[in-house]
Amino acid sequence: MTNLQHQHQKQHHQQQQQQQAIAITIRDTRTTAEGVTGERKVKLIVNRTTPANKDIRLDAKVVIITGANAGIGKEAAIECAKRGARVYMGCRDPGRMEKARQEILDKSGSQNVFGLELDLASFESIRSFVKTFLSMERRLHVLINNAGVMACPKAYTKEGFEMHFGTNHLGHFLLTNLLLDVLKRTAPSRVVTVASLGHKWGRINKDDINSEKEYREWDAYMQSKLCNILFSRHLAKRLQGTGVTTYAIHPGAINTELMRHLNPCIRTMAKPVFWVFFKTPKSGAQTTLYCAMEPTIASQTGLYYSDCKLKDPEPHAQDDAMAEWLWNLSERLTGLSR
Ligand SMILES: NC(=O)c1ccc[n+]([C@@H]2O[C@H](COP(=O)([O-])OP(=O)(O)OC[C@H]3O[C@@H](n4cnc5c(N)ncnc54)[C@H](OP(=O)(O)O)[C@@H]3O)[C@@H](O)[C@H]2O)c1
Repeated sequence: MTNLQHQHQKQHHQQQQQQQAIAITIRDTRTTAEGVTGERKVKLIVNRTTPANKDIRLDAKVVIITGANAGIGKEAAIECAKRGARVYMGCRDPGRMEKARQEILDKSGSQNVFGLELDLASFESIRSFVKTFLSMERRLHVLINNAGVMACPKAYTKEGFEMHFGTNHLGHFLLTNLLLDVLKRTAPSRVVTVASLGHKWGRINKDDINSEKEYREWDAYMQSKLCNILFSRHLAKRLQGTGVTTYAIHPGAINTELMRHLNPCIRTMAKPVFWVFFKTPKSGAQTTLYCAMEPTIASQTGLYYSDCKLKDPEPHAQDDAMAEWLWNLSERLTGLSR
């Protein structure tokens, strides 16, 4: 075998490892303009393993990860700790947090993983988290806004905001703003916000952003994920020239506890589908890690990434006027401006 053939074979093998192609037949019941229905063979590429660069170290860097006791956040915490970072977990349930912290310590071999209580559905808890963190650290290199709820029954945060809007967006909005001074002092530093491809179906309901007139759990979730991208985009503008850069990401379709509010029957039936088509939490953490530490994107800011690559979000997630409107509203709702 020639050198070239060998290289080609190696490349092909790597690609095969990265992509699992699954061919399925879909019975297409929709009628086309010609009145034809039929079957289509669809090749689904399940990309499981585009990894963040394994050689980058985070020695002595300080990282906060919200919702680090489960799923994507826990895997990101393990990886940051392995690479030498001092990791602060921000979690709402002390028992679950301590259990996960022990697992992160075991798996990373690090001693520098700390748990601080943080309920993003309470402004008081967010302020108390920041106060405690600032009493322990004078620097913050990476803030990872990861925690989230999805499609939960109608519920409100302590201050009366609809749970998706309040937790996924307003909670992280307040947290980030309260940490801006330390992020600026530590610059270059980064804010990574875990959004979702779901923003595609999200709309900012200006007339009823708090779902008071009507509550649809999926609309509320998609709206909050669109808020995440608009927030990251506008934050980048406000931080121009400070050395603090921002990144919004879609982690992929990941098999985590995020589905906990789905109907139990549907969840049981969908389990094999999740197993085959959804990525592992470890894969799901890769784009977060990429944006948290990849040197080649250090000067990019306000953009959106998926599968460790820069992507264009939907046009309505690039609407600067809407991003500014949301920012001003969020400032008022969180009490940052009156
Ligand atoms: N999984 C996917 O396919 C997918 C796709 C696109 C985007 N995402 C996004 O990825 C992020 C992580 O989700 P995941 O899939 O890893 O789900 P997960 O396993 O359910 O983890 C969510 C984390 O958020 C925490 N959390 C929820 N409400 C909180 C609050 N009020 N205060 C503090 N922490 C809170 C949870 O804490 P508890 O354990 O105490 O509940 C948990 O640690 C979310 O922002 C989600 O929207 C996920």
